[in-house]
Amino acid sequence: MLEEARPFVKWAGGKRQLLDELTQGLPYFENYHEPFIGGGALFFRLEAMNRIKRAYLSDSNAELINAYSVIKNEVFELMSELASPLYVNDEAAYYKIRASRPKTNVERAARFIYMNKTAFNGLYRVNSSGGFNVPFGKYDNPKILDSQNLMLVHRALQKDELYCGDFTIALKNAKRGDFVYFDPPYFPISKTSNFTGYTKDGFGENEQKKLLKTYKELDSKGCFVLLSNSYSDFISELYAEFEPETVHANRMINCKGDQRGKIKELIVRNWEPKITQRKLVEEIVAIN
Ligand SMILES: C[S@@+](CC[C@H](N)C(=O)[O-])C[C@H]1O[C@@H](n2cnc3c(N)ncnc32)[C@H](O)[C@@H]1O
Repeated sequence: MLEEARPFVKWAGGKRQLLDELTQGLPYFENYHEPFIGGGALFFRLEAMNRIKRAYLSDSNAELINAYSVIKNEVFELMSELASPLYVNDEAAYYKIRASRPKTNVERAARFIYMNKTAFNGLYRVNSSGGFNVPFGKYDNPKILDSQNLMLVHRALQKDELYCGDFTIALKNAKRGDFVYFDPPYFPISKTSNFTGYTKDGFGENEQKKLLKTYKELDSKGCFVLLSNSYSDFISELYAEFEPETVHANRMINCKGDQRGKIKELIVRNWEPKITQRKLVEEIVAIN
């Protein structure tokens, strides 16, 4: 196993708790698609396991995708920017950087990473005009510049394509035999928990239904499709024909980050986890 990169941002809904379940019974594949990449926990694990030949990573959050692209293409410039005395962990510096409008992609990525490490709970929240509006987090010693991990992330991204956009992009890029992992914004667990505010566009019932349609289209194309979501009757019924599996994960369950606990999550696979490379080859030969 290669040295594993860790997500370079703290991200709501991050999947580090579920990696063992998510990597069980993986099929053989070459191309990997993750259209809600967020912090990318599963991607970094699979990359360290040397399971991916080419990856197509995307998210609707433009600042996040800019940070991935800068780490891929301009990591030394980014590290030197983050090392500048501007990026210190104090309240005055925080509000100054929060109010700034960086001009270059490197400065944008540095601001994004800095805000993620120093903002309250690492939340990404924007107001109606798209401005970042989270208060200062008052952490003791946040690691604003983690050069070692940025280099591991840089290496992991070298053969990847990065896109900013809607998850349906997977329909365009994925081919038969490819692996697609969907980790959408969670469907609210209860009426009081609001866990879907990643960007200014919410992800409600209609989006979840559009995602099911996309899941089914990829299934018909012959892709391996994996989806995770919070447990709810609504999601469980949507995917009933794929027999969702229920698992338990330790996680932050509300947007204030003050409620942690074991919650039920759903994993939906469209393949028998036992499938082997040989079976896939036999299947392809039989069809042709
Ligand atoms: C649950 S998080 C993904 C967490 C990720 N798996 C991890 O380990 O950190 C969901 C992501 O979906 C993105 N998102 C929200 N709506 C989207 C859409 N319509 N298309 C693509 N991405 C979207 C959010 O910006 C967020 O990064």
